[in-house]
Amino acid sequence: MADFKIAPSILSADFARLGEEVDNVLKSGADIVHFDVMDNHYVPNLTIGPLVCDALRSHGVTADIDVHLMVKPVDRIIPDFAKAGATYITFHPEGSEHIDRSLSLVRESGCKSGLVFNPATPLSCLEHVMDKVDMILLMSVNPGFGGQSFIPGTLDKLRQARKMIDDSGFDIRLEIDGGVKVDNIREIAEAGADTFVAGSAIFGAANDSDANVYDTVVGAMRDELSKA
Ligand code: DX5
Ligand code: ZN
Repeated sequence: MADFKIAPSILSADFARLGEEVDNVLKSGADIVHFDVMDNHYVPNLTIGPLVCDALRSHGVTADIDVHLMVKPVDRIIPDFAKAGATYITFHPEGSEHIDRSLSLVRESGCKSGLVFNPATPLSCLEHVMDKVDMILLMSVNPGFGGQSFIPGTLDKLRQARKMIDDSGFDIRLEIDGGVKVDNIREIAEAGADTFVAGSAIFGAANDSDANVYDTVVGAMRDELSKA
């Protein structure tokens, strides 16, 4: 079975209790903390920066933190996120004037690098930088907000990206982000994804009476993945 990883997006967490939310979701068996950075310029929303990443590390989070930069430009902020404890730093090709340079900057800063593709952005620019990416992230919604519906055409794009990765022989994770739920995660895995971002499907399951409510949804996702 593939090495599947579940990456809850803290965009849908309760920010007033962020440390506790991240602890709970990791206790429930999630693998990676997906950290959505929005700048109200590249995308029409504004979220969190390096200070919050650093705060999660100081709180004691040791899991991988997957920083998804929806910002433009990217170079100025990459070293700050590396210092703040990011494991992965991924960015959109539209956010960088010099994609090769930005990817190298991520690795030189000590992090794993990745490129993110919007639903209408072709994968073609990967061709010349396959040796410089540790992660390819396909957006299955337009970036900017949680809680949107999975765009079905992303399944074909996943198959295309999976083939590119397998043909390259490089060790590259294939991540999917947007509208991932218990009822579609299996077909997404079968199309080639190995890393699954889910925001509203996981944190939306919270209620005040049961702090371990994430066990149910993360467990259901794992069950579905075990059938893929
Ligand atoms: C959207 C973000 C996603 C978002 C996913 O721009 O990149 O990570 O949190 O949320 P859901 O899982 O609710 O679609
Ligand atoms: Zn994201």
